[in-house]
Amino acid sequence: MNGIVRREVERYAEEHTTPPPPHLLELAEETFQSLSSPQMMTGPVEGRLLELLVFASGARRVLEIGTFSGYSSLSMAAGLPAGGHIVSCEIDPEVAAVARAYIASSPYADRIEIRVGPALDTVAELAGPFDLVFIDADKVSYRDYLEAVLPKLAERGVIAFDNTLWSGRVVDEAQPDERTRALIELNDALRSDQRVVCVQLTVRDGITLVRRAPGET
Ligand SMILES: C[S@@+](CC[C@H](N)C(=O)[O-])C[C@H]1O[C@@H](n2cnc3c(N)ncnc32)[C@H](O)[C@@H]1O
Repeated sequence: MNGIVRREVERYAEEHTTPPPPHLLELAEETFQSLSSPQMMTGPVEGRLLELLVFASGARRVLEIGTFSGYSSLSMAAGLPAGGHIVSCEIDPEVAAVARAYIASSPYADRIEIRVGPALDTVAELAGPFDLVFIDADKVSYRDYLEAVLPKLAERGVIAFDNTLWSGRVVDEAQPDERTRALIELNDALRSDQRVVCVQLTVRDGITLVRRAPGET
């Protein structure tokens, strides 16, 4: 993944973030050694940001769309209060098996449940409300994910969309491909959607935080 800030600045940010615990270091190593597209993993800076978002919001019920090898699930689990729970959706059984193995041997085995299948089907079966929703799966479905999760968002809940700057391609590409177009459309739609309030952060590959607009239930 091409960063949107200078590589040295990314490295500096990582060096000035609390280092990952041993179970995340091992998971990151295996992800890079054994899985294809390891750059999809959120990694140490975004992982800590997610942990702190869960912690600061006091989120107890978390929904994730896009587990991959489990780095973001395990990061968020570290911010949960006792009794907190994460449901994570993943379509690929092979990566879900890797995630399950690392979750099982982590301190958070009882806090994370992985559901294998198309996320839209899984979300349709889940009852809300969710305090935090992290969306990090197929980019072309992001607007569908918004519509699926918004009715299940707690009154003070937050949705975090990952990769919304897409290595800068949302501004760079004259002829955007399907995924870039989907992200451009999502970003434009969120900005003018009266139901929500959003902020786009230039962290890592771009993260957009969304909450309900005042008065929207
Ligand atoms: C960017 S990765 C997730 C990275 C993960 N959050 C992490 O920190 O390591 C996206 C994941 O979404 C999964 N995915 C893609 N389409 C999906 C769908 N329709 N339903 C559920 N998961 C899907 C992919 O198999 C992939 O593992």
